[in-house]
Parts: sequence; C-alpha cells; structure tokens
Amino acid sequence: MKNIDAHNHVRGESVYLDDLPLQQGTLFACVFDSPVAHGRIREIHLQEALDVEGVVQIILAKDLRGENQIGGIIPDEPLLADGHVHFQGMPIALVLAESEESARAAAKKITADIEPLEIITDPRVAFEKNELIIPPKRFRLGDTAGAFESCNHIFEGRADVNGQEHLYIETQGAYALPTEGGGLKIYSSTQGPTAVQRAVAKVTGLPMHRIEVEVGRLGGGFGGKEDQANAWAALCAVGAQLTKRPVKYSLNRVEDLRMTGKRHPYSADYKIGLDQNFKIKAYEVVFYQNAGAAADLSPAVLERTLFHCTNSYFVPNVNATAYSCRTNLPPNTAFRGFGGPQGMFVIESAIVHAAEQLGVAPALIQQKNLLKTGDEFPYGQLAESEAESSWDQAIRQFDFETLRRETADFNAKNTHLKRGLALMPVCFGISFTKTLMNQARALVHVYTDGSVAVSTGAVEMGQGVNTKMLQVAAQTFSIPPEWVKVHTTNTLRIANTSPSAASATADLNGKATLLACEAILNRLKIVAAEELYPNEDSARHAAAIHIKNGLVWYDDQPTTLDWKTLISAAFAKRVNLSEHAHYATPGVNFDWTTAKGHPFAYHVYGVAAVGATVDCLRGTYEIDFVKAVHDYGKSMNDAVDFGQIEGGIVQGIGWMTLEELVYDAAGKLRSNALSTYKIPDIYSVPKVIEVEPLQTDRSNLAIFNSKAVGEPPLMYGIGAYFAIRDAIRAFRPEAVPAFDAPFTAEKVLLCLHELQAEYAA
Ligand code: MTE
Ligand code: HPA
Ligand code: MOS
Repeated sequence: MKNIDAHNHVRGESVYLDDLPLQQGTLFACVFDSPVAHGRIREIHLQEALDVEGVVQIILAKDLRGENQIGGIIPDEPLLADGHVHFQGMPIALVLAESEESARAAAKKITADIEPLEIITDPRVAFEKNELIIPPKRFRLGDTAGAFESCNHIFEGRADVNGQEHLYIETQGAYALPTEGGGLKIYSSTQGPTAVQRAVAKVTGLPMHRIEVEVGRLGGGFGGKEDQANAWAALCAVGAQLTKRPVKYSLNRVEDLRMTGKRHPYSADYKIGLDQNFKIKAYEVVFYQNAGAAADLSPAVLERTLFHCTNSYFVPNVNATAYSCRTNLPPNTAFRGFGGPQGMFVIESAIVHAAEQLGVAPALIQQKNLLKTGDEFPYGQLAESEAESSWDQAIRQFDFETLRRETADFNAKNTHLKRGLALMPVCFGISFTKTLMNQARALVHVYTDGSVAVSTGAVEMGQGVNTKMLQVAAQTFSIPPEWVKVHTTNTLRIANTSPSAASATADLNGKATLLACEAILNRLKIVAAEELYPNEDSARHAAAIHIKNGLVWYDDQPTTLDWKTLISAAFAKRVNLSEHAHYATPGVNFDWTTAKGHPFAYHVYGVAAVGATVDCLRGTYEIDFVKAVHDYGKSMNDAVDFGQIEGGIVQGIGWMTLEELVYDAAGKLRSNALSTYKIPDIYSVPKVIEVEPLQTDRSNLAIFNSKAVGEPPLMYGIGAYFAIRDAIRAFRPEAVPAFDAPFTAEKVLLCLHELQAEYAA
C-alpha cells in the first residue's frame, strides 16, 4: 500500500498549520528575544514598539495569569524571561498586532538594557563550574577497574560530536482561539498534543479540560517538536486569553534557527581495554552533554546516551557516567536517536582508535564483540540479539571482501582520490525509556454506512504513521482501505497522549487501534451469527465467522452477508459500533536507583557498509554507497519503511559530514541561515542506498511484528564518518585525526595535510 498522503503532498493539498483559514479578528504574534546569552534585565523599552501601527498589546512575564513555566521534566524554563536571560534567542516580550508585518516590525523596535553575566558555551567548562542540570547518571556492569588490569591493550582518548539542526520543512508555530467561557482551542505543529495542552494549562492557569489541542499533520518534527512546540503554543494561548482574540504565530526560518534547541553536542572521554584476541574486556566512558540553558528533555536524552553507549557490542565490564551540563545556548532537545547516536559515536571512535593502534581493521574488533542472545546490556536487560545475524548477512549479501578488494585496488591506482570503507552496526532499543510513557489509546467508530473513522494519539509528521494506522484497521476488519479514514490528533478524542516519538508511535497507537477494532469485530461476529443462524447458539457460530474483503465468511465459505449489511443489522440491534481502547507495553520497567531493568520492548538491529571517496587535493568527498541489512521484523509497509531508512541514513550522514552548528563565544548562532548551515542535497546523498531485510522470524512486540523504523537507520550515517577517515588514512597512513564530528570538507583537508589536531597515540 502506498503512503496515503503521497497524492495530497505532491499536489500541494495537504493541510499544515499555515494552510488553515484564519478567523476574523486574528492577531499575529512575534517575540522579542534576548540579544545576549546571559544577563540580568535592568529595563525593557517598549514605547517605540507600541507606537508601531497595528500593535495591539505587548505581553511580558508579569502579565501571565498562570505560572511562567514551561519546563517539562524540571521546572527551570520560564516562558518569558523574568529578570534574567540565559541564551540568545530567549523570548522576553510577546508582541501582538493586526498583521504579521506589524508584529515583526514592532519586535525589532524593542530594546532591553541587560547587565552582562558570564557566558558558558562549552560543556566541559560548565562541568568544571558544577553547572549541572541534574546529578550525574551512571551505568555499571562487572568490575571495570579489575578488568583493565588484565587487559593486553588499553587505549584512552577523547571524542567530540556536534549538534544538529532539525530543519523540519515546516517551522514551529501555533494558532490559538478563545472558546466559549474562557477556554482555548489550539492548533499546533507539535509531536506532543498533550504536552502542549499541559503547557498551555500551566501558563494560562486553566484546567486541562478547558483546552483542546488539534494537530492535523506536521511538515517534519524529527524530535524538534516533541516538546519545543510548547512555547509557541503557550505564547499564542496567553495572547488569546489576554486579548480574547485568536492569535497566530508561525516562526520564520531565521527565528526558528535562532530560538529553538537542537541535537545535543557531546564531548566524551573513553578508555577501552582489549585482550589478546581483540575482545573488549572493559569500557569506561564519561559523557559531557551540552544541555543548553534549561533542562528541556536533556535528562532523558542523557539516559539514552548511556543506554546505547555500547551499541551492538557485548562488553562485560562497563563504567559509564554522563553529565548534563548547563550552558548559555538554547536548550537542546530530542532529535532522531535521542542521545543514542552520540553514545554510539564514542564507542565506535574507541574501537577505531584501538584498531588503528593495533594495526588491524576496525571490522575485526567490531565483529569479535557483537552481542549474542542472552548477553547482558549494562542496564540489565538481556539481548535477543540479531547483531551477528545482521553482520553475517551483510558481509555475505554485499560481498564485503570484494568491496574491500575494490577499495584497495582503487587506492593503489589513484594518488589523489582515495576510497574508504566502514561497517556500522546498530542496536537501538524501542520503547520510551520512561516506562509510564509506553501507553496509548485509540478511538474507532464504525458509521452506519459502514465507513470507519480512526483517531489515535499518533501524530503524522511525514513518517507514515497514518498509513500504518489505516492498515491496522483495514486489515483487522478486512475491508478496503478506502472505507477507513484516519483523523487528526485531538486531545478531546484521545487524552493523555505520549508524544509521537521514540520510534514507538506505530507500535503503541497501532496496538491500541488493533484492540479497538478487535472489540468491535467480536461484537459484529455475534451479530453475523444471529443474522445467519437465528435462534441458534450465536456464540458457537460466531467462532466460525470471519470477515474477508468486506464479506462475511462462515468457516471457509462466503455467506450472503456483507460488511455494510452487517453494520446496519448491528445498528438495528443497538450494538455498540464504537470502541475506545487502551494499550500499555507489557513487561517494560526500569529502576534508576539500581540503574537496572528491562526498559525496551525489543531492539532493532542492523549493519551498514558505507563507502566514501575523498578528493585528497580538495578535501571534498562523496558517499559512494550505503548498503544495509536492516531488521524490519516483518515490515507492514515496505514503501513507508524504506522511505524512513533512506531519510534516516541521509539525515545521519548530514549530521556526521556537512552539518556544522557554530556558536561563537558570545553564544551567538553563526550558522544561522541555510547559506551557512548545509544540509544534504541531491548532490551529497549517497549514490547508492541498498537495503536488505534481515532474514529472521523471531516474533516481537511490534505491531504486526513490523519493527519500529523511525530512528535506528539514522545511525548507519555514523559509518560515513569512519569511511571518510579510512580514505584519509589511505592517503596518509600515519594520520590519526582526533575524533571530532562532523567531518566537514575543511576538516578533511586539514587532516590530509597534518593540520588538524590528532590524538596522542
Ligand atoms: N520521518 C519524517 N518524514 N518526519 C519526521 O519528523 N521523525 C523521526 C522519525 N522519522 C520524522 C521521521 C523521529 S525523531 C521519530 S522518533 C519517528 O519518526 C517518530 O515516528 P514513529 O514513532 O512513527 O516512527
Ligand atoms: N525517546 C524519545 N523520546 C522520549 C524518550 C525516549 O526514550 N523519553 C522521553 N521522550
Ligand atoms: Mo524522535 S527524537 O523520538 O521525536
């Protein structure tokens, strides 16, 4: 089945926030945000802005009717600055005007007298000054100190990995409408409708039941709207509450880039110990996460860094510590992989470091340490591993030996062009690491004409979840897909939703949809039995009934009854044609007092082979191929899942190669436009992306055994970094560049010519 949105997307008919017709009287918002990264506000000058034609009101922190607080995990983030500013881009004042132009013009006329305070942008500096968001988090397995004593080889080093801008095509925004009796209806471009509802309730002082949040679809979220859509919705809500008029704010790109948080940059120190057979015996790692100025989701992201700090490998002795460091940058947030990719980059760096010093291929160390079923993760869960099966299938199916030979031959023949090769295994846990978030609900109505409406907590952001929800309903009822419509995500229909995140949206909401459809189906089967065999044992007959392609079957024979007639009969008998179902992932738990548990429903595995060619005169490079064996479980939609894998790979490569976030020492974002922040384009995507499904029939907790696919493929992109590094070493074999992503062309050029920092061998 095709993605149900493809047709409307191509024709430009899909409706995003900015496509909504506006109500008469709508005001437009724009914030005045902090021009400095840290300071004490002495005075805000509003008069010139108030004089701009069309300006209706300017709102400051003191005007809020509720609490000036939007922190989700920790209440440390004011909606509008109150006394202090903590990052450039922090909202200080909200301008409301009759037009977007007036609002923006007025915001430019606001000035503030701010006493400067010390600015920290580096997480290690923040750590030195004890500027921590939360106490450190630790994972321990075995006896690391003891294990290092018996290691034949020990390597220590540092790895740095930069952040990443989400660059969803649709920027952040919201539209708030006052409703009867002082309530609010909010249209929001959010992954978390309930998160928006909660934030709006807090800042307006209204109970949640007075606030309706409606989400049609998103032009991308990638984690950037898991909770960072809240601020804009809350600002519009406050504006609507105070003016009693609808308020819309749709950020322009420059505002969005400047004011919102991104993927977390990390700096890390590692120590890896191996025995004479290249088995990793011990791994010690300290992560310094650059959280930005407030907690946002950083504590949860930090945890996932630890959960994935050993990637696809079994390491018997692990000591991993993670610090969430407060800096004067916009609060960093969820981004596809949620801290996992950063943890994986560090262990891959440690392995490559060891391999380079031992004079062996990194693949040798990788392969010898892959997880086996029954191996314990540092957090106590036992692996049901597909690491070796993915690896073996990739080596075989992509003929890795030939790829290696071709690379060597090419390098022997060329002096200025060099090729590199890397293998990147991935193991990613599926479930929110915060157990309570692993729940979802679905509401299914069958109407009297036989058509079916499905509502869930899932937000469609391009990942194809609505297509999957539709498939669940259509397949469970066995009716044509055209008879099912998946509707918007709305907090009045579905309450207390978890954000669409953690790659778990289809599993959680799909299972809830399945339960709702099954409940209705079971009632319909009784009705069918009564219709076909009146005055007989309907429960017994119902057991023989099933529906196939819109027809009622008895045992293996079609009957005269079809779906629409059955629905009419059920309605006539006053049978309930609606169901609201609840699903909670079974078996997941985690206890932070012991840092052990079973946090994930299952893991997704895979292995990618990545090839790159570096132009050693210019430092430029091309990614020749990414060939992955990927663990789909059993995909319920190949087209949607392949799209997710392609997109994830390209986004991962972007993070590892081109995309360079630059904040200067004053905390100003220098890569603040698309002219200075480069994302992959058609010229820089891999020339070949080949994906083969892992052959396995192990059952799992995924919806229809179709494993979550949203985030894991991004991490194949890490292979691009190491493939480029491999090519650099083909040009200059003694090169040992410091592990410092992204590998921009500038950095590659410096490495080629010994001008870039190297690690101490
Ligand atoms: N794909 C598209 N097209 N747009 C997105 O915003 N977000 C990613 C991934 N794929 C995203 C996407 C992220 S960060 C996650 S967690 C998952 O989709 C969320 O959706 P899922 O749970 O349905 O996989
Ligand atoms: N993944 C993604 N998003 C999340 C998570 C997680 O584990 N926990 C809270 N938000
Ligand atoms: Mo994805 S980072 O869990 O929204």
